[in-house]
Amino acid sequence: MDTQNTILQIDHLKTRFKVGKKTVYAVNDVNLSVARGHVQGIVGESGCGKSVTMRTVLQLLSPNAYIAGGDILFAPEPGGDAIDLAKMDRYGEEMRAIRGQKIAMIFQNPMASLNPVYTIGSQIMENLLLHEKVDKEEAKKRIINLLAELGIPEPEQRYNEYPHQFSGGMKQRVMIAIAMICNPGLLIADEPTTALDVTIQAQILRLMLELREHHGTSVIIVTHNMGIIAEYCDDVAVMYMGRVVESGTVRQIFQNPQHPYTRALVRCVPVPGMPKTNDLETISGSTPDASIAFDHCEFEPRCKFATEACRKGFPQAVECEPGHMVSCFARGGQS
Ligand SMILES: Nc1ncnc2c1ncn2[C@@H]1O[C@H](COP(=O)(O)OP(=O)(O)O)[C@@H](O)[C@H]1O
Ligand SMILES: [Mg+2]
Repeated sequence: MDTQNTILQIDHLKTRFKVGKKTVYAVNDVNLSVARGHVQGIVGESGCGKSVTMRTVLQLLSPNAYIAGGDILFAPEPGGDAIDLAKMDRYGEEMRAIRGQKIAMIFQNPMASLNPVYTIGSQIMENLLLHEKVDKEEAKKRIINLLAELGIPEPEQRYNEYPHQFSGGMKQRVMIAIAMICNPGLLIADEPTTALDVTIQAQILRLMLELREHHGTSVIIVTHNMGIIAEYCDDVAVMYMGRVVESGTVRQIFQNPQHPYTRALVRCVPVPGMPKTNDLETISGSTPDASIAFDHCEFEPRCKFATEACRKGFPQAVECEPGHMVSCFARGGQS
């Protein structure tokens, strides 16, 4: 792994859940490389394994989940060593030191993540003191500066207020503050704006681009919205049923999509930058049951271009142009 230019590299990751006698094959073979300082988009229909993949990176998994294979190589420092997060004990000291400090995550629903009985300031302070030995006064100053940077008006006063006194958009800014207070190298935002209206959504996403500018943070934005990918991301990975089926720069994926699924997604976006109208519902068919293990391409039942080969096994990833990977036997088929 080129740790100078890559901060995170996921290889052949598999995450499963035991539910009674059944196994849920949530993540089947995810390969993903996140370039240092880039905004990486991850897109795919609901249930395709985006959240489970991201939670696996931080090992924030429910007790019935397990990693069935693969590596998650993380390189906090450019040129430094990479560590394999997939091999770490999820409850161990090492993982705790990374979670929230080197890699931070924000979720879709800020209302559920903030504790109603503590002030905003104390909730940000908690994450800071967990990871750093800082004087309380100095910590408070740092938090107020960050709140100001994140566009929260009157931050000294807001510091002492409670979550219910904040609007949805302001709560999400607070979640970003909790995530950013330790200056993590990697920020994972899982559908950070899905619960917000379009104007606020744009403000929050722009804010994440600013964080990248000012702090050099690498950012992963998980979304089911191709418009968001087009407008805010440098690179994109398209997921289908627990696999990355295509990845590349946003330009490559939008101008030269290869996988029939990606082609359908790109067609759903009439004008990049109009995030309201391009959810992924318009592709015919629905996703298969994740508790059935496939022995061949999961997209085959929905694919107009499927051939015999597609019913016999899984396609290998092919680099169809530099940095542009696609896994499909029928790639490039007209649609
Ligand atoms: N705790 C869990 N137990 C069992 N199955 C789960 C659990 N969490 C997620 N899954 C399953 O894993 C698959 C991927 O889910 P998820 O990553 O949340 O999808 P996405 O974020 O892409 O919408 C889905 O089939 C979902 O039902
Ligand atoms: Mg999700």
